[in-house]
Amino acid sequence: DTAALLATLRRAPVVPVLIVEKLEHAVPLGTALVNGGLPALEVTLRTPVALDVVRAMADIPGGVVGAGTILDPAQAREAVAAGAKFLVSPGATPAILDAALELGVPLLPGVATASEAMAARERGFKVLKFFPAGPAGGPTYLKALASPLGDVVFCPTGGVSPENARDYLKLPNVVCVGGSWVAPADAVAAGDWARVEALAREAAAIRG
Ligand code: 3PG
Repeated sequence: DTAALLATLRRAPVVPVLIVEKLEHAVPLGTALVNGGLPALEVTLRTPVALDVVRAMADIPGGVVGAGTILDPAQAREAVAAGAKFLVSPGATPAILDAALELGVPLLPGVATASEAMAARERGFKVLKFFPAGPAGGPTYLKALASPLGDVVFCPTGGVSPENARDYLKLPNVVCVGGSWVAPADAVAAGDWARVEALAREAAAIRG
């Protein structure tokens, strides 16, 4: 439900968007992010091991694992079965909204226009992913939706960086941002968990 999702997302300003290639990286990566102050973890279903990564990260103390890049109802079901506590989708198709409602699991559906946000809102979804945030118009665009869509909040994702995260987070309709920068592919490949934890710590300190 919305309240549970908001409570999770409000625990830190940044939700790491993770593309994990190797299952053995799951626990140390997730632990570094949680220890750095980012408890909500979005594991994208973009690699063959992604569902196993969700399963592994579900046991990390203090963490809340979710699954991202959910494209269809089957993936939503698989992710929840693997232990995902929330789902993230790049879009907001009727099928994906139906699946989330049936499963009773919080979903951040991706939207980039007022009409898309309204369609999701009509189905009861009021916490949305603004995607792809940068190319779709950035903070000025999202700010323009705040007044007419007064009861909808967003997690902008796509092109968010340490340089511009604050510009989103200071908006009244932004609850958190999503970004991959806290888990750089080279740091993960090298097992440089200290660097990941340091990046998480810096991200956790960003204020709007
Ligand atoms: C993605 O789709 O990979 C996410 O939106 C993250 O985008 P980013 O790599 O620009 O942070």
